[in-house]
Amino acid sequence: MYAKFASVGAYVPKKKVTNFDLEKIVDTSDEWITKRTGIKERYFVEDEVTSDLATKAGEIAIKRAGLKSSDIDMVILATITPDYFAMPSTACVVAENLGIKAPAFDISAACTGFIYALAQAKAFIESGMNKNILIIGAEALSKIIDFKDRTTCVIFGDGAGAAVISATKNRDEAILDIDINADGSYQDYLITPGRGVKYGCDTENIYLQMKGNETFKVAVKTLSQSVRDILDRNGMTSDNIEWFIPHQANYRIIDAVARAIKMPAEKSVLTVSKYGNTSSASIPMAINDMYEEGRLKKGDMMLLDAFGGGFTWGSALVPFGGE
Ligand code: ACO
Repeated sequence: MYAKFASVGAYVPKKKVTNFDLEKIVDTSDEWITKRTGIKERYFVEDEVTSDLATKAGEIAIKRAGLKSSDIDMVILATITPDYFAMPSTACVVAENLGIKAPAFDISAACTGFIYALAQAKAFIESGMNKNILIIGAEALSKIIDFKDRTTCVIFGDGAGAAVISATKNRDEAILDIDINADGSYQDYLITPGRGVKYGCDTENIYLQMKGNETFKVAVKTLSQSVRDILDRNGMTSDNIEWFIPHQANYRIIDAVARAIKMPAEKSVLTVSKYGNTSSASIPMAINDMYEEGRLKKGDMMLLDAFGGGFTWGSALVPFGGE
């Protein structure tokens, strides 16, 4: 049995925040943010929480797969901004919202969360255990950002993206390969220290902290290696890829990795300007944009990559299997 990427869905909250809005609350400028990151605007939740965003994205993905809630036999939700600390998992809340009675759990792999969820769904389906798994990346990052810290508050946004991964006997539709990695020696580079049992609820350090420039350098190096490795071991080059759909953290990281594999600019999908960095949600949100714009066709080979806190990183070769 093989696993196929059967459908995609996404949802963003209504409140749009531009770089000019941020200029009013922190010492920054539209020029700096645009030049250093490529971001122009992002969306923030108002009265919604992560499970609300995830539920809406998941509902669309299930419908587009031509399925009902009762067909979904597992929910895997990647997030670093769960509704609750410890429990219940956000996946359980979403399953209940969608009327899904099936195993449901969260995973924490920061911005690489969607690729980690994809790897798990692929493994469960190939083992014969599941037929239709709903995977979701959903984040309300505005809730863990310090709006006094200009080095982080201009980068992140909120949103959710989802996909249904389904069993198929057709090898041509199969998710081809996934590469996932982690290196905990970088744990202090991207961290929310004041939210966990180690430091308790330390309100001084409750927000996300990032060594941005150091993270940037490791991201470019490890992502370039990961995408080169996955292409090489499958005997592929950028010629075999229709769409390069990377995690949307910074257009300069995307550009550097694309150059490393000689990916033509017209194949690189860029949504960072309109959503910012939405962590685990960014890849499925970008796939959804391509789908809704009618640019993504059944059978198109997607090269995905992501890098995030941990550090974690990974890449995947995925033919789009939706109609
Ligand atoms: N506005 C104006 N100036 C700023 C701002 C801002 N918002 N932020 C920083 N600066 C200043 C700094 O203070 C510094 O000033 P100085 O030279 O006087 O000291 C200068 O700009 C340069 O700062 P750098 O940090 O070196 O800027 P850099 O070019 O590295 O860009 C950025 C920063 C955008 C954060 C970049 O390093 C980056 O994208 N890093 C990687 C992020 C990432 O991929 N994270 C992983 C995923 S996220 C996750 O897992 C949740």
